[in-house]
Amino acid sequence: MTASSYRHPVRLRRSVLCVPADNARAITKVAVLECDAVIYDLEDAVSPDGKAPAREALAAHLSARHRPNLEVIVRINSLSSGFGEKDLAALVSCNIDALLLPKVESPQDIQAVVDFLSERDAPDTLRLWAMIETPRGVLNAAAIAETGRTRGGRLDCFVPGANDLRKEAGVPDAPGRPYLVPWLMQILLAARGSGLDIIDAVFNDFGDAQGFAAECAQGRAMGFDGKMLIHPAQIGPANDCFGVDASALAEARSIIDAFALAENAGKAVINLKGRMVERLHLDQALRLAAKAKAIQYKGIKA
Ligand code: COA
Ligand code: MG
Repeated sequence: MTASSYRHPVRLRRSVLCVPADNARAITKVAVLECDAVIYDLEDAVSPDGKAPAREALAAHLSARHRPNLEVIVRINSLSSGFGEKDLAALVSCNIDALLLPKVESPQDIQAVVDFLSERDAPDTLRLWAMIETPRGVLNAAAIAETGRTRGGRLDCFVPGANDLRKEAGVPDAPGRPYLVPWLMQILLAARGSGLDIIDAVFNDFGDAQGFAAECAQGRAMGFDGKMLIHPAQIGPANDCFGVDASALAEARSIIDAFALAENAGKAVINLKGRMVERLHLDQALRLAAKAKAIQYKGIKA
């Protein structure tokens, strides 16, 4: 396998909604929302005094699965915060898909959690996501991503944290994210180099639909798989932007059909209406078609 091969089949991660773990009303609402994934947050969205009750309420909530086809992730506190170990202990036996680790800065930050989970016989299906949101995290992103390729590695996905990164690096919030984009691309390249998915950072102004649509389009063009969201109003636009549009699907189908023709059997490169198409384009087309099928299966507009 080359380092850049995807390690898993397509997973829909167009819209990844963050929900504060101490907000019971918002947690209940998730059952009727059309996000592909939810991140219940025990970290920045919960005050220090609220951590223990939020953790307890969340663990109780997660003992039942309320919506099929919803990927469930919990963002825990860092191990160095004094809350992280308690979060891990409470969640290790819960019915969740992944833990999101905040402020990951080195491979050791991942390894410490991998060790904790292995010692408690957590199933391999319990995966890890990592927030890259500090200067050191960006500088070490490639080494951190590599941990996903080692035996027993659980890392599946990166999420850049734009708010923390701006704060730590001293970069102001500006439309188009001109000074963040180079770092976001660096994190994206590190993710892809180890076959990880990557979700774009949050857009804070949830009342600004136009600004949000523009940032989604930018994230899509940069290569992100979806966007981390903070408000239900952002779900529909994110699903649309990171979905599969009809013309791209038609194009993919024409590539798949062309390679299926007897005359093209065994060919590495073909002429498709005056354009060079290689087998790597077939791989891309098959992945896009699989994504479209997953969207259709979910009953959500492609
Ligand atoms: N998940 C689920 N439901 C949410 C939600 C979320 N993230 N954010 C808002 N809602 C619900 C509200 O509960 C409300 O429901 P209701 O009509 O049944 O009362 C509805 O959506 C409308 O909410 P609105 O009044 O527009 O916003 P708000 O003042 O309730 O909340 C925020 C605004 C920013 C506080 C809230 O959206 C939030 O906490 N977002 C997530 C923040 C977070 O997780 N940050 C850390 C990661 S970056
Ligand atoms: Mg953060």
